[in-house]
Amino acid sequence: MNSMGTLAFDEYGRPFIILRDQENQKRLTGIEAHKSHILAAKNVADTLRTSLGPKGLDKLMVSSDGDVTITNDGATILQQMDVQHEIAKLLVQLSKSQDDEIGDGTTGVVVLAGALLEQAEQLLDRGIHPIRIADGYEMAAHLATAELDRIAETFPVDLQNLNSEPLIQTAMTTLSSKIINKCHRQMAEIAVNAVLAVADLESRDVNFELIKVETKVGGTMEDTMLVKGVVVDKDFSHPQMPKSVKDARIAILTCPFEPPKPKTKSKVEITSAEDYKKLLAYETSKFEEMIKQVKDTGANLVICQWGFDDEANHLLLQRQLPAVRWVGGPEIELIAIATGGRIVPRFSELRADKLGKAGTVRELTFGTTKDRMLVIEDCLNSKAVTIFIRGGNKMIVDEAKRSMHDAICVVRNLVRDNRIVYGGGASELACSVAIAQKADKISTLEQYAMRAFADALESIPMALAENSGLAPIQTVADLKSRQVTENNPRLGVDCVAKGTNDMKDQHVIETLLSKKQQLMLATQVVRMILKIDDIRAPSDRI
Ligand SMILES: Nc1ncnc2c1ncn2[C@@H]1O[C@H](COP(=O)(O)OP(=O)(O)OP(=O)(O)O)[C@@H](O)[C@H]1O
Ligand SMILES: [Mg+2]
Repeated sequence: MNSMGTLAFDEYGRPFIILRDQENQKRLTGIEAHKSHILAAKNVADTLRTSLGPKGLDKLMVSSDGDVTITNDGATILQQMDVQHEIAKLLVQLSKSQDDEIGDGTTGVVVLAGALLEQAEQLLDRGIHPIRIADGYEMAAHLATAELDRIAETFPVDLQNLNSEPLIQTAMTTLSSKIINKCHRQMAEIAVNAVLAVADLESRDVNFELIKVETKVGGTMEDTMLVKGVVVDKDFSHPQMPKSVKDARIAILTCPFEPPKPKTKSKVEITSAEDYKKLLAYETSKFEEMIKQVKDTGANLVICQWGFDDEANHLLLQRQLPAVRWVGGPEIELIAIATGGRIVPRFSELRADKLGKAGTVRELTFGTTKDRMLVIEDCLNSKAVTIFIRGGNKMIVDEAKRSMHDAICVVRNLVRDNRIVYGGGASELACSVAIAQKADKISTLEQYAMRAFADALESIPMALAENSGLAPIQTVADLKSRQVTENNPRLGVDCVAKGTNDMKDQHVIETLLSKKQQLMLATQVVRMILKIDDIRAPSDRI
């Protein structure tokens, strides 16, 4: 903030601070400050509430330059909302942290934080000090994570035998709330296969660098596929070149590959047709020499960063050396890494051991459009895979890409830690019941905060029920009593009307990591907000 105050000294040398621009500043303190924060944060959380769950709605956002985004992803919605309020921005970051760490659950975490703040407001009205509320929340969060650990089940993630069914079920739960749920089985399988293809089974880790997600508008979502290799948005330079090269040996050139051109300013004087023909013949023979040099190394495909003219293109076709031109820098690097080739910056340095190797390089064509892409499969060096997403328009394709990211993250988390809990609000309700029971045994003021925490946890099943058109309070009350009487923490909201509340039967599965992270992050932010009791800001900012 510019020039908040200056230090001055009075006639006895005692220091004092002069605060500038007091008339332009607004100050909120104490309970008023808390209320203002809570209101701001609640407003943000309320906008996300309707997006939660398999029947949650999507949001359409138009950016200042007219770009339209349609999404169900909490982090994306908040990021694009362009929130101004400083406290509300904390919630934006909250969902971003969840996104960075876990990938899924970004809507739920904000809804939970909003509910916690709403409950805190009521406690503040009853005169309980914010610090006591914050402490009570902290205790409750610990109890909740302990309860999650207790009810968590270990999932038979059998990576060796590639029994991927459980992983697919979990990925399907993640995708069920997204626009692509009409083919979510196929998408889930793609996500699981992509992760398993690159997973390091010993360290149980997944390198995301190796999973590329490419999109191309057109076709239908069912055309989405997994390519075990690299996809580049390019095509062979001549339409008559073969559409596929088997057992490819690739020369990767970042130097010009064309008949020699004088680079510096020089003048070639041609006075007769004879001379012109000679020059042409010279150029052609030089280029043929270059082609021969490439072929001598054993290469059967050339990938160039630069272009070559039609004349050269024709010669390449005649000499049966397929080529790809105008490949961008990052793609060149990707191809080089994947195929184990070396990038050749000078033509004279081309050698056999610098060639990249791949099982097949083939061209993909789409429908009746002239769009083509190059697929490089079975690369020598890399397990890299590409998920290639198709869809009717840019908005769907972009949303599918975001959803795919969620699914990949969830599968990765399961590979890392194969403990799961059941979704549909079941695990939240189980935690709520556990906390409420413990709260009664605590004699200090924190017991109110803990009970408030338990109530806030109910907001997740409540929102799920509301979004699915069920009576929220009745549904939650019913589920809660059944969880206790039947001693079954798997009972959740039957959002898709399958006729059972047991989320195990419905295969609504979430990772333990994600649920724990949601609880911890939401509690942390709410505690932080509760601890602020003084705001000073330019008057137009509050
Ligand atoms: N078939 C289902 N039946 C009941 N509940 C479901 C079902 N599928 C998903 N859910 C629940 O929906 C919630 C997830 O909703 P959603 O995916 O919209 O939000 P999120 O995962 O919190 O955020 P985001 O996906 O935007 O990052 C979870 O609580 C999950 O248990
Ligand atoms: Mg989700």
